[in-house]
Amino acid sequence: MPENIFSQWVRFMETVFRTGDLTRNKKINNRESRKNITSLKSYPTRCYLEITNQCNLRCPMCGQSWFEGKRSYIPDDILAKIREIYPYLEEINVFGFGESLVDKRFFNILADIPPHIRKKYVSNGLLINPEAAEKMIELQLHELFISLDSATEGTFQFVRGQKGFKRIIQNIQELTRLKKEKNSEYPIISLAYTFYRRNIEEFFQFIDLAHSLGIPRITGDYLIVYRPELEQESLFHEQEKANRLFPQFREKAAQLGIELIIPKTFDESAKEEASIEMIPCYEPWEFIYFRADGKIGPCCVNDIQLGDLNTMSFEEIWNGAKYQAFRKMVNTTRKDPNCAQCMGRGMRKLTERSFHIKFLDNKGNVIKGENTDHEQALSSGSGSPSL
Ligand SMILES: C[S@@+](CC[C@H](N)C(=O)[O-])C[C@H]1O[C@@H](n2cnc3c(N)ncnc32)[C@H](O)[C@@H]1O
Ligand code: SF4
Repeated sequence: MPENIFSQWVRFMETVFRTGDLTRNKKINNRESRKNITSLKSYPTRCYLEITNQCNLRCPMCGQSWFEGKRSYIPDDILAKIREIYPYLEEINVFGFGESLVDKRFFNILADIPPHIRKKYVSNGLLINPEAAEKMIELQLHELFISLDSATEGTFQFVRGQKGFKRIIQNIQELTRLKKEKNSEYPIISLAYTFYRRNIEEFFQFIDLAHSLGIPRITGDYLIVYRPELEQESLFHEQEKANRLFPQFREKAAQLGIELIIPKTFDESAKEEASIEMIPCYEPWEFIYFRADGKIGPCCVNDIQLGDLNTMSFEEIWNGAKYQAFRKMVNTTRKDPNCAQCMGRGMRKLTERSFHIKFLDNKGNVIKGENTDHEQALSSGSGSPSL
């Protein structure tokens, strides 16, 4: 029908123009970040869109189980402000601290994201019922990471604080079946694992489980302990085991054709850490964290607030005094104490206790006297002795 051909043409032309915006913006963004320019003509290319910081679970390892602050759902008028930069974005992570599917608007928000943007979602998987699975396929969510952390119901209950393992496996099976039925490449499903002392050996079984489910990729990460109750679960106390088992995990996954993304072992890291200095950070140029309460942060490690979309426009925040000061600081003094927690920029070392264990109070502040080497990093205003 003529209308269809016309609307297809409009869509095609929109994509052509967006591609122009994207490429041009990225080029300018790249130049501005490498030159440490603080007032920008370009926009970020990636973001976290924290639809809600509410969650259906209270996993004992996660701040959700002790966080006392207000739970928010990102207001519609703030979403409208964020939409203005959609033409420049390449990637949106449609989650943050919480479970986005708890928000009834999740699929409307997803549908509103233009097709040129890669959409990624990390979920606990419990709410991905057949209806949600259909929607994810229809709306072409690109990547779905399901945090399972276990290969058995018993371990799941400890790590995630309640039953649900079987339900999630069923949800994955149904989603996979629907993908096949609809001949859809998306969403590409990955399984995520947090390494505890108690579940490290279970990871062999986890790789088998992923294989049997036809999952092409597994991501794994060390448990970060925020509460004294979990201190003994840290792999910081099992370094030899991690050094020994991680290479075996890599070998097994490779044999089964599964892509495995896990961190370095303690030994591997120790070899590099001696020579690591401050690695440049371009996140305050390339990335932005939109919080559910309307506040803005520069990345997913640093919870500093650089503006508030409740009272300011995007432009006022992006080139405001706080953002400019932060950009100026990040690759010079890197004095901000939160940047001292960033491993990705060579500021925190995987071999240090503070990487794995840092006790926080209910407001998210580091508890003094409990975190020796981390506190030293904070009190010197930098995580790196070379600064
Ligand atoms: C905060 S959750 C939000 C998304 C979703 N609710 C989920 O659980 O996947 C994002 C990721 O952080 C991980 N996570 C939470 N607390 C952690 C901790 N203390 N140490 C390491 N990873 C943690 C979760 O397992 C999950 O993969
Ligand atoms: S499901 Fe995710 S956000 Fe919710 S408590 Fe667990 S780790 Fe935290």
